[in-house]
Amino acid sequence: MRLIGSLAIGVLLQGSLQAQVKLPAVLADAEKQTKVMLQSVSAAKEGKADLVSPRTIENGKLKLVTSRDWTSGFFPGVLWFLYQYTGKQEWLTQAKAYTANIEREKTNAGTHDMGFKIFCSFGTGYRLTNDAAYKDIIIQSAKTLSTRFNPTVGCIRSWDHHKEVWGFPVIIDNMMNLELLFEATKFTGDSSFYKIAVSHANTTMKNHFRPDYSSYHVIDYDTTTGAVVKKNTHQGYSHESAWSRGQAWGLYGYTMCYRYTKNPIYLQQAEHIAAFILNHPRLPKDLVPYYDFDGPDIPNAPRDASAAAVIASGLYELAGYSKNGKRYRTTADKIVTNLTRSYRSPIGENFGFLLLHSTGSKPSNSEVDVPLNYADYYYLEALLRGKKK
Ligand code: GLY
Repeated sequence: MRLIGSLAIGVLLQGSLQAQVKLPAVLADAEKQTKVMLQSVSAAKEGKADLVSPRTIENGKLKLVTSRDWTSGFFPGVLWFLYQYTGKQEWLTQAKAYTANIEREKTNAGTHDMGFKIFCSFGTGYRLTNDAAYKDIIIQSAKTLSTRFNPTVGCIRSWDHHKEVWGFPVIIDNMMNLELLFEATKFTGDSSFYKIAVSHANTTMKNHFRPDYSSYHVIDYDTTTGAVVKKNTHQGYSHESAWSRGQAWGLYGYTMCYRYTKNPIYLQQAEHIAAFILNHPRLPKDLVPYYDFDGPDIPNAPRDASAAAVIASGLYELAGYSKNGKRYRTTADKIVTNLTRSYRSPIGENFGFLLLHSTGSKPSNSEVDVPLNYADYYYLEALLRGKKK
């Protein structure tokens, strides 16, 4: 009986993430490396209290950012994930402290990045602690984000910069900020947040996607008519190319929209995006995309491990909703395994970042082939999602 039991478990684990990487060891390494990061942050701060989160390595130095930066919430999120996995008081203490540093963003109406900042930090913290103060901050942040919604366009405005180029830019990344709005409706019963999220998702589905379900990065709208003015890129190779992280944001974003709405059109959209990514002839064998699927320098183009981490995490969730779930889960397992085996920083190096080889913005030669805090955040999220069976 016992033998049959262990054989059965062996069969279950075969092909699973647990069978391919030793998760306890990988997560123990992540703890060690994040301790290195905490020391690196203290050393790099040089008394500057407004520098709150590590973002990347620039010119050989650890780059810290203020709470206003779109990435400020990811390192607090990494700390929350370590607390989630270990239950250790030390990670809870650090997660609370780094999260508190970015509370002021709840009233910053100058950006759409509210979800990235507040939901990855306070949202993850609330999920793990039920702290009522975190809930209030999430609700206030959703109110602030809602002020950027234009009913004629049907979307939340993404950027206020580059006003000379775009009148009302909406980027595919913005799909990720809808989670904050859906949660705010759950907390308050006020459906206005939910309606904004649905309107944004539907308008984006209509205008951001090409017939092959790849997406443009930036859509510029006319605010008097709601018409599309331009279809552009900012971080991809060209306006008509498929910027990898944008495809990843779309996949994760529509999967998350299905979680809250159970509207099958979002599930179908996520599956179409997954098919575009996974069947792409220029997706490398290790499933870690080049920064753009159409980069002219492929196979020498830089990779983007952050896109791979977002795709893996999104696929784990999608697997739970789809009849193709087995394929999605197996693929996510492969991505996480490859990131773990070939893209991790050695412990004690790279200031404590977990993953190497991400690309922020190749066209502006910014953050090319470097560690990025959001790669680490989605990698850990994917590891924890993959660990669950
Ligand atoms: N949200 C900005 C980026 O993906 O680079």
